[in-house]
Amino acid sequence: MTPLVVGNWKMNLTAGEAIRLAGAIAREAPADTEIVLCPPAVWLVPVASQLAGSAVALGGQDCHQVGQGAHTGDIAARQLADAGCSHVILGHSERRANHGETDAQVAAKVSAAHDAGMVAIVCVGETADQRAGGDALPTVETQLRGSLPAGCDTGNTVVAYEPVWAIGTGAAASLDDIAAMHSHAGSVVSAHSDRLAGCRILYGGSVKPENSREILALDGVNGALVGGASLVAEDFLAIARAV
Ligand code: 13P
Repeated sequence: MTPLVVGNWKMNLTAGEAIRLAGAIAREAPADTEIVLCPPAVWLVPVASQLAGSAVALGGQDCHQVGQGAHTGDIAARQLADAGCSHVILGHSERRANHGETDAQVAAKVSAAHDAGMVAIVCVGETADQRAGGDALPTVETQLRGSLPAGCDTGNTVVAYEPVWAIGTGAAASLDDIAAMHSHAGSVVSAHSDRLAGCRILYGGSVKPENSREILALDGVNGALVGGASLVAEDFLAIARAV
């Protein structure tokens, strides 16, 4: 299974910064890792130009669940695909928390992404309170069951486990907790659908060059979803090379 490293640039970077970062990553990307860059939507097209001819793919950070219409400020899956995206991040905890996205909405968006021919990167993860209350595994299990619609398979769907409390804090989950959650998530998705047996599961949450090698070496970790460290070409490339 080829490992996958995804850079989620979130709501960062000017046009010039985005173009320079994409160009630097495209020039130096290791050939044996699949890499996807997810810039802010407004920079998808100029970033696509930088990635043209390289092995680095383009992804969106969200899409709407309906195909087109009166949805001011939203972006349809087909529009992302038309801009050059092969992937889209869905159900990120920042979307769930800041925009009230439910598992059902995420599932509808996943279907829209598939209809547009894209791979959905479906994010799940527990809060600090849920973990402290002993509810990490059931929380993620419920999110997975609710967010993965019929039609998901290992080709069109990737799961990303991102514990909310580890995002942007500098404190990644422990190796034991990551391994336990990835093993659980693997069982949940294969029980959910035969076609998800062996689905790639990424870890996200304070992945840095310093901790990427040991996280990515864990059984059941098939790559990383990287936020802050994806904004610095050398750091992101170091993580991609650590796979
Ligand atoms: P950080 O790598 O900044 O913790 O962000 C993780 C994330 O949310 C990626 O989607």
